[in-house]
Amino acid sequence: MNCSYCPRPAQYRDRASGAALCLEHARLEVTGPALTPRPSPRVLGEGGQRVRAEIRPATTADRERIAALAHHFWGETLVYCFDREYEVLDSPAFLACARDEIVGLLAYLPEPAENCLTIIMLNVLPAFQGQGAGRALLDAAIAEARRLDLGYVRVSTSNDDLPALYVYQRAGFHLTGLATGAILAHHGGVEAGFAGIPVRDEVRLALPISSQ
Ligand SMILES: CC(C)(COP(=O)(O)OP(=O)(O)OC[C@H]1O[C@@H](n2cnc3c(N)ncnc32)[C@H](O)[C@@H]1OP(=O)(O)O)[C@@H](O)C(=O)NCCC(=O)NCCS
Repeated sequence: MNCSYCPRPAQYRDRASGAALCLEHARLEVTGPALTPRPSPRVLGEGGQRVRAEIRPATTADRERIAALAHHFWGETLVYCFDREYEVLDSPAFLACARDEIVGLLAYLPEPAENCLTIIMLNVLPAFQGQGAGRALLDAAIAEARRLDLGYVRVSTSNDDLPALYVYQRAGFHLTGLATGAILAHHGGVEAGFAGIPVRDEVRLALPISSQ
C-alpha cells in the first residue's frame, strides 16, 4: 500500500481520516485515552471489518512474506543496531496474522551471551495499526525472553521515530543509551525520517524481565 499523498510505501495510518502515510507525510497528534479498552489481540481489516488476529511463531513457509514485509517498511532485511548487523531472514520471528494475511512482524534474536533477547524489527501494516497487534507482538517477545530465562529485552529505534519511542515506553521499556550519529554514519548521509526529521541517532531501550 502506498502513501495517500505520494508514491512512497505507507508506514502509518491516519486514525482520523484513515489515510495511508509514508514516513515523511506522518505527523504526531496528542490525544486522550481510548474511552473503551481495546480487545487484544484484535485488528481492523482493510474493509473496516473487525477480524481476529492471531500471534504465532514464523515458520520457513513464511520466509517470502516476511521478506516482502521487511522490504515494504525498510527496503531491506538487514538491520544495523547495537553495533552489529542482524539478518531478519535468519532470525526467529512472531507474526500477527489476520485470516491468511501476515499483518505484523516482530523479528528477534535470543543472545544468551548478553543475557538478553534483541528485537530486530517490529512492523504492523498501516491498515491494521492501533488495534493492539504491535503490543501483542511485544508481549510475545517478552514472554519468549522469560521462557528462555534471559534478563532483559532490548530494542533500538531512531531519533525521529517518536511513535516507536511512545510504543516501547508504554510497554515498560526504558532508555538505556544513545549512540549519537550511529545511523547517520551507517547510512553514509542524512535520510528523512518520521515527519521529515533527519535520521541520525540510535536510541536504545530495554525492559528487565521480572522473575514472575
Ligand atoms: C510501531 C508499530 C509497530 C505499533 O504497532 P500498532 O499495532 O499500531 O501498536 P498498538 O496498536 O499495539 O498500539 C500501541 C500504542 O501505540 C498507539 N498508536 C498506534 N497507532 C497510533 C496512531 N496512528 N496514532 C497514535 N497512536 C497510535 C496505540 O494507541 C497504543 O498506545 P496506548 O496503549 O497508549 O493506547 C506500528 O506503528 C508500525 O509498524 N510503525 C511503523 C514501523 C516502525 O516504526 N516500527 C518500529 C521501528 S523501531
